Amino acid sequence: MSTSDHELASLVAQGLAAIGLSASPSVGELPTSGITPTGATQRGLRHSGLPVGGLPVAGLPRGGFPQGAIPQSGIPQSGIPQSGIPSAPSAGWFPTSGAPGVSREPRVGLIDELASVATELPYFLSPKGPSPEGLAAPSVSPTVFGPSQQRFEIPLADPGGLSSSTAGSSLDVASIRRDFPILHTKVNGKPLVWLDNAATTQKPRAVIDRLTYFYENENSNIHRAAHTLAGRATDAYESARDSVRRFLHAGSTDDIVFVRGATEGINLLAKAWGGKHVGPGDEIVLTHLEHHSNIVPWQMLADSVGAHLRVIPVDDDGQIRLDEAERLIGPRTKIVSATHVSNALGTVVPVRELARIAHRYGARILVDGAQAVSHMPVDVQALEADFYVFSGHKVFGPTGIGAIYGRPDAWGETPPWQGGGNMIVDVTFAATKYAGIPARFEAGTGNIADAVGLGAALDYLEGIGMDRVAAHEEALLDYGTARLQQVPGLHLVGTAEDKAGVLSFVLDGHRPEEVGKHLDRHGIAVRSGHHCAQPALRRFGHEATVRPSLALYNTKGDLDCLLEALLELVRRDDARR
Ligand code: ALA
Repeated sequence: MSTSDHELASLVAQGLAAIGLSASPSVGELPTSGITPTGATQRGLRHSGLPVGGLPVAGLPRGGFPQGAIPQSGIPQSGIPQSGIPSAPSAGWFPTSGAPGVSREPRVGLIDELASVATELPYFLSPKGPSPEGLAAPSVSPTVFGPSQQRFEIPLADPGGLSSSTAGSSLDVASIRRDFPILHTKVNGKPLVWLDNAATTQKPRAVIDRLTYFYENENSNIHRAAHTLAGRATDAYESARDSVRRFLHAGSTDDIVFVRGATEGINLLAKAWGGKHVGPGDEIVLTHLEHHSNIVPWQMLADSVGAHLRVIPVDDDGQIRLDEAERLIGPRTKIVSATHVSNALGTVVPVRELARIAHRYGARILVDGAQAVSHMPVDVQALEADFYVFSGHKVFGPTGIGAIYGRPDAWGETPPWQGGGNMIVDVTFAATKYAGIPARFEAGTGNIADAVGLGAALDYLEGIGMDRVAAHEEALLDYGTARLQQVPGLHLVGTAEDKAGVLSFVLDGHRPEEVGKHLDRHGIAVRSGHHCAQPALRRFGHEATVRPSLALYNTKGDLDCLLEALLELVRRDDARR
């Protein structure tokens, strides 16, 4: 090795030492491999990708710190305190309490210590700094625009854009926002305003950390082996199923089947349940508000068996007409499949009333809850749903995971869908004996880690309380509705009395896509387009709308930013005329 090679190697070694690593075995060799951490804690910190010197813990769950399953070092290997990292009571798959490196005793003292460090980290601070409760109280400041603009005099509740509270809500939004790292990023030089929640929701640190923890401590296939990690992974997965059960107020974990999302859930039921129970001349009843994922699978079924679709119309506000539902649902109806909340208009559909009409004729009801679960408490038993589907990514969980709830008698009359491993009890070349529910509908290796992540998302929401989320969003929706109506030339699409989460609109003289791009320049994310609900939009004479959509972390300030950007667009037009 030449002198300069030695100098280089020495510099590399010094650099590695500075970040807590050592080159092994000899600093004389360039460390293309053999880099070893100087300690478990350091390793965790360095590899976490998070700022070193403090540990962000904004994601600490509100529902109380989870019990158990904390590595004995007291610091999880990701270097991040556990948020939602559970040790559910063992589901009884395998004993894991004696697993090496796993202590059932939470190190609460240490976590508190980390929390106090983390609250000072800039990592979670918004570009404008923290917005503690009370500091950003709405101050009414008239905004008066220039000569041709004076007709718009609009008091903004929170010109700063990051109001931390909403009147009538006890939700601590400033604290919640700190749990979502991405909300503190900038887009086009502006603080991100995420109003595309109907497309997908952002993820709290509780979910991000849970996924990391799973892959670092628990990763294994499930239900299949006698080794320790198989037990940990199985416990984590089954614990997530229990979180889904609690979140939906289902009677049993056996009612819950994991799928990729609402779309897969509806396809499963259309193919498996529908394939058995829907025949020639039978009727499938939908509403005019459905997402394509709750239209196309039923069309495919109807085409293949010679059944018919019937569509419950909506009124001019975008609410379904129950009088028409009474007329359309009848003895030929085999299933009613209806959205709980319209993704395009935000209408909350009276699904319990639909369930009662359907049940009068012995028909089943499937509720598509994809757009409801993040906005309101859901009780599948109170709704009298036979099936209820949702997607994890719409409710602060990962993509590629969702669930179907089915009443035991509804599952009982549903034949298996996909065949393979996990869904059987015994296989011979002559015949297969199927497993019970839910395994019967979970063939193959599923999305284990993301199911666990979904469980963490639902636990996080449980800690906050969905009733409080609903109250917060209702106030925001009222506020946003009033504000948007002050924009000249703006027309709301979907004005039902019972709405959740969505403020669809069109703006005279501007294509929705153009409005979306203009808002993006202001750091505001909304969806512009047909929202995969073309029949619903066409009912109102539109091919596309602009669709801001809300979640628990949105504020009046977000809506003020939206309003200001829209007014700027309108003003610019006025100036050109
Ligand atoms: N279904 C999603 C939406 O409404 C993608 O945007």
